[in-house]
Amino acid sequence: MRSVIDILDLTVQEIDSLIADAYCIITDPARYAHACDGKKLATLFFEPSTRTRMSFEAAMYELGGHVISMTDAASSSASKGESVADTVRAVSCYADIIAMRHPKEGAALVAANNAAVPVINAGDGGHCHPTQTLADLLTIHREKGGLGGLTVGLCGDLKFGRTVHSLINALSRYDGMRFVLISPEELKLPSYVKDAALKAKGIPYEQTTDLEKAMPSLDILYMTRVQRERFFNEEDYLRLKDSYILTPEKLKNAKNDLCIMHPLPRVNEISTEVDRDARACYFKQVYNGKIMRMALILKLLKEAAE
Ligand code: NCD
Repeated sequence: MRSVIDILDLTVQEIDSLIADAYCIITDPARYAHACDGKKLATLFFEPSTRTRMSFEAAMYELGGHVISMTDAASSSASKGESVADTVRAVSCYADIIAMRHPKEGAALVAANNAAVPVINAGDGGHCHPTQTLADLLTIHREKGGLGGLTVGLCGDLKFGRTVHSLINALSRYDGMRFVLISPEELKLPSYVKDAALKAKGIPYEQTTDLEKAMPSLDILYMTRVQRERFFNEEDYLRLKDSYILTPEKLKNAKNDLCIMHPLPRVNEISTEVDRDARACYFKQVYNGKIMRMALILKLLKEAAE
């Protein structure tokens, strides 16, 4: 059974074809309004979410399908001690496809190994978030006309930010990419991501703590929230939380066609004044996330039926 746990579970060709499908969905949504008639998506969220869960649900409704949800782990059997493996075995009897978010790294893989239907990882701890990456890739594609030859700055919590890990893994497979990793010392990109995605492939990257110095070279600036829930102590979080705050002032030396992104939710990382800047793309990412989730649900249900 085909599941998507890591963005690397999809080949570059498959991602390009999901992006092509997304353009078709945007142009002619009515053509897809009954594509999943009679099918059910289960959303299992063991961790808070607004956008990801609702966009999976909206995506399934827009495909004509139905949704059943577990939105609160505290009111589910998980609170009685049920394992993820048993939960997904049961949910496989109710649904044709599962989207799951869990605070533990690797939980989505356990789910995929035990479910009888496809599982989509909607975030597993500080590890991966492949569908946010699909949203990000469509956004970059629509803004820049393609996915190669870009200098991408990623700023903030590169250690715990799962969206960053998946995005670097995805973009490093396209030609001519360069990365600028901007973070405090304590929140640097983990070496397991850096070694496999960048070093092993000889992809140019630099690490810095200085956002303003990096700014002029960037085509994409991907801001991220400091991931409070993954910290071991509150003092460290309080010390690091406002390391980077993007303001109109800091954008003075940025390119005119810079694309400013953020997976959301934002806390303080981007001042609301930046929202009026035409280069702000973070609310476009939200829309693109729903479209890419439609494309992915369609693909996995089609493959499961073959
Ligand atoms: C992200 C996540 O859950 O990792 N949110 C999202 O899905 N758009 C980013 C975050 O929570 O900071």
